[in-house]
Amino acid sequence: MLITGAGRGIGRAIAIEALSRGWQVSGTVRQNGDAPQGVTEHLVDMRDRDRLRAIGTKLGPVDVLINNAGVIGPERQATLDMDFDGFADTFLINTLAPLAMAQAVLPKMPDGGRILTISSQMAWMGYAKSDRIAYRASKAAVNKIMQGLATDVRARQIAVALIDPGWVRTDMGGPDAKENATQVAHGILEIASTLDMAQTGQFVRWTGEGREF
Ligand SMILES: NC(=O)c1ccc[n+]([C@@H]2O[C@H](COP(=O)([O-])OP(=O)(O)OC[C@H]3O[C@@H](n4cnc5c(N)ncnc54)[C@H](OP(=O)(O)O)[C@@H]3O)[C@@H](O)[C@H]2O)c1
Repeated sequence: MLITGAGRGIGRAIAIEALSRGWQVSGTVRQNGDAPQGVTEHLVDMRDRDRLRAIGTKLGPVDVLINNAGVIGPERQATLDMDFDGFADTFLINTLAPLAMAQAVLPKMPDGGRILTISSQMAWMGYAKSDRIAYRASKAAVNKIMQGLATDVRARQIAVALIDPGWVRTDMGGPDAKENATQVAHGILEIASTLDMAQTGQFVRWTGEGREF
């Protein structure tokens, strides 16, 4: 299993839970030693697509990829007051990197593998307001990309899903968030272990139930 952003938050919780279940876990970090002990670290800033490609060439077989690394985006991200550079940066990390990581991993993924991308309920098209619009747009876009990727790898029986982790107590979610990262990691690993071709291309809650895009 390869997890991006394995040094803290949800990614770290997934790594710890996966190790305890006996998975062989690799993780991307930006600083050596950030990932939990037992994780094989790959140093990369998710903006660096050349480096993501290079990591792909070094990997052994990867049965599951979990695209987790992400940012909430710039301070100013209203439609009428937008930090466009910050918006573009958010897209690099939240939207383009998951695809670049998937492209790098796919040659190493056996048929029947799984690709999970941590999206957000904030991607939901049914919500029309514009708060945190750079983040919302980056997650809605990664949903669309992964839905498309699912059709492109279907012939290899590789299942692709978007995960809504709920509102989780991490640096990003803050202390008032509802969900505990360990519990959410547990749910995400259940999905990583059971996702099948009947669910490919779908957006699912961390509990496993389907949800609307
Ligand atoms: N927490 C929530 O309530 C919530 C809700 C919905 C969706 N999500 C999504 O869940 C995922 C994990 O969120 P979290 O709550 O665990 O956030 P977090 O605690 O802020 O952790 C973010 C992770 O992403 C990594 N990351 C950020 N920018 C990076 C970059 N440029 N290059 C490499 N790694 C980078 C961080 O690595 P460093 O330690 O090196 O910074 C860290 O491992 C994200 O995709 C987020 O959008 C979270």
